[in-house]
Amino acid sequence: MVLSTGSHNIRTAVFISGTGSNLKSLIDFSKLNKSPISINLIVSNNKHAKGLDYGVIFNIKKKIISFKNKELAEKKLLNELKRHKIELICLAGFMKILSKNFIKNFKGKILNIHPSLLPKYKGLNTHQRAIENKEKYSGCTVHFVNSKLDSGKIIFQKKIKILKKDTPKSLAKKVLAEEHKLYPKAILKVISP
Ligand code: GRF
Repeated sequence: MVLSTGSHNIRTAVFISGTGSNLKSLIDFSKLNKSPISINLIVSNNKHAKGLDYGVIFNIKKKIISFKNKELAEKKLLNELKRHKIELICLAGFMKILSKNFIKNFKGKILNIHPSLLPKYKGLNTHQRAIENKEKYSGCTVHFVNSKLDSGKIIFQKKIKILKKDTPKSLAKKVLAEEHKLYPKAILKVISP
């Protein structure tokens, strides 16, 4: 248990770079009656990220930060997170690697979701690699973020059978549907009431 809600909802920022379907599932989760979190900020390094639309739809503050200069970007980001009193960060399809210094500021309070059964298939193109290697199973993992890529302590995993007919696309679709269920479950596990 890393976080305690006390009497308030944990103020959460979700970092995205693209579609934002995990962001949407976290917003839905935050709106449930007994949800321990509120989504107070959406961060994107990509101004064209489709997921930013959810900020408009659900009236959530957005911050777009270019990572061309990473040091500067992270400095700005830390200020922004402080300004919004953010306590928990959920990376959801965020394609940038955060520095040790940034992570130190939110130790044990940054989660990530990854579309493989970690420690297998860190990085990109996980579904294609799993199929090429004739794996019987794939899945998704929610883990704490440390300074090494896709390597922090695992919170929850969901295993999914790879069928003979599966393509990277069909597998990605199945795994993504499970991701949407797994992320809220993992958040509940790390937040103590
Ligand atoms: C997900 O598969 C997530 O696990 C990975 O990137 C994808 C993001 O999808 N890190 P979305 O933007 O949440 O739809």
